[in-house]
Amino acid sequence: MKNHTFLVTGGTTGIGLATAQLLQADGARVIVTGRNPATLAAARTALGASAVVLASDSASLADAKALGAEVKTHTARLDGAFLNAGLVQFGPVEAMTPQHFDDLFNTNVRGVFFQLQSLLPVLANPSAVVLNASVVADLGLATLSLYSATKAALVSLGQTLAVELAPRGLRLNTVSPGPITTPAVDKLGFTAEAQKGFEDHMAAQTLVKRFGTPLEVARLVRFLLSADSRFIVGANLTVDGGFRLS
Ligand SMILES: NC(=O)c1ccc[n+]([C@@H]2O[C@H](COP(=O)([O-])OP(=O)(O)OC[C@H]3O[C@@H](n4cnc5c(N)ncnc54)[C@H](OP(=O)(O)O)[C@@H]3O)[C@@H](O)[C@H]2O)c1
Repeated sequence: MKNHTFLVTGGTTGIGLATAQLLQADGARVIVTGRNPATLAAARTALGASAVVLASDSASLADAKALGAEVKTHTARLDGAFLNAGLVQFGPVEAMTPQHFDDLFNTNVRGVFFQLQSLLPVLANPSAVVLNASVVADLGLATLSLYSATKAALVSLGQTLAVELAPRGLRLNTVSPGPITTPAVDKLGFTAEAQKGFEDHMAAQTLVKRFGTPLEVARLVRFLLSADSRFIVGANLTVDGGFRLS
């Protein structure tokens, strides 16, 4: 990964930060994005001076469309991108508002699509792009209707765009994690007791009886961004401890 530069959206915490750190450990230069000033500042400390940490809101169409030009001011070319920034919200169908719908789809789908579109001129030939979907895209988990629909849209984009972009040397794949211990769970607004119940339930649904770690997803993403995976194109790889089978 030496002399390679990678972009990680939502690289300030959780799976994105773990991936950025793993790529750095392999000698790569990383550019990460986030939105929250506090986590952006913490990521600057965690990733050090060699990293570029950008404020870029995936839910903003203007930010998504400007991302490629912004990245270009920091690097002549990108060797790969992990389009990972995402929002998790849940609730029964009656509780979902148009605001939930827009926030989820604008962040998780529209943002990813237009970020990728804007990055095309700066992505090298060859390069690799990985989308972060979720195992729920393929499941029927009550109260996760809109979130699951956004991730199903990403799985679909991962297939069609892999075909469309392969001729220009861009290898696109998708990862679908199961339950992973990240700050995302703390943002769901549970009471401490409800959160414990949720976590115990989700862990019990995996075949290994635990949540995964951000590093366990990061290792798969690093593989998909590296030349070691050069014959894997348009795949959707699950990293879920067997969650989808139980
Ligand atoms: N954790 C799981 O169990 C799990 C399972 C399957 C898939 N995923 C997916 O994994 C991805 C990363 O989530 P995570 O679990 O690592 O959670 P996380 O720790 O909350 O990370 C989310 C990252 O995305 C950024 N982000 C969120 N909304 C953004 C926006 N509008 N603009 C720019 N950045 C934004 C966050 O930055 P700020 O701090 O600035 O908001 C943060 O860096 C998401 O796409 C999620 O759907 C997670």
